[in-house]
Amino acid sequence: MVDATGSEEAFVTSAAAPSGQAAMTAEILELRRQYEQSGTIETQPRRDYLPYRSSILRHPTKDLHHADPESIELASPAFGHRDVDVLEADLTIQATGDPIGERMVIAGRVLDGAGRPVVGQLVEIWQANAAGRYIHQRDQHHAPIDPNFTGVGRCLTGPDGSYRFKTIKPGPYPWRNHHNAWRPAHIHFSLFGTFLSRMVTQMYFPGDPIFDLDPILQTVRDQRARDRLVATYDHDLTAHEEHTGYRWDIVLTGRDRSWMETEEAE
Ligand SMILES: [Fe+2]
Repeated sequence: MVDATGSEEAFVTSAAAPSGQAAMTAEILELRRQYEQSGTIETQPRRDYLPYRSSILRHPTKDLHHADPESIELASPAFGHRDVDVLEADLTIQATGDPIGERMVIAGRVLDGAGRPVVGQLVEIWQANAAGRYIHQRDQHHAPIDPNFTGVGRCLTGPDGSYRFKTIKPGPYPWRNHHNAWRPAHIHFSLFGTFLSRMVTQMYFPGDPIFDLDPILQTVRDQRARDRLVATYDHDLTAHEEHTGYRWDIVLTGRDRSWMETEEAE
């Protein structure tokens, strides 16, 4: 649940009753216990997930609008190579100097539910810098802005559905959902093109100790669905003395679909 620049902190409301992480974790664990007892499988996030305080006030209350997929595809955007410069996929060269932090490449494929590549789609990312700070006036986190890092980039998927970004590994950052609340390091992804609507999700890094404490990641109730949001370290993608490499595929439909935020819930 973020605004266009990805600052969850901007949406904190009076619904955020003061409570510590221990109380928050107890809430998360109780809802997880209820979910596991239910015997159901939910691969999409709960829109009204109480530990994520502001979702209670802002979640959609009406049924989703049903649209005809074929008519949507007729009117959906088609992107060409002149629309997006290949250099926009490199977030480390947007200024005159080098941004600070761990240089990394994130690469993967956008696939449909049958495993087919989704070609020529717009993939946009936005993220905090290495210190966990967004360039956004409502992000007042006491961490430095990096003048050489905007945290935004975009590219088009190739003929095999592939995308690739070079960037800086983001840091975790605090937000005001509850006392001492921190988001695991993540990169926001938006996908837009010849499918029903813009899709927005988040990618995480393996082994992050904050996963179980984070009410946003925990809105995704199924462990396997949460796992699909975590990239894999790939040493073959890592380049000698240059950058580390992570791989993350995005599945738009079907049983293995990646969790997506709703436009309304942003
Ligand atoms: Fe964020």
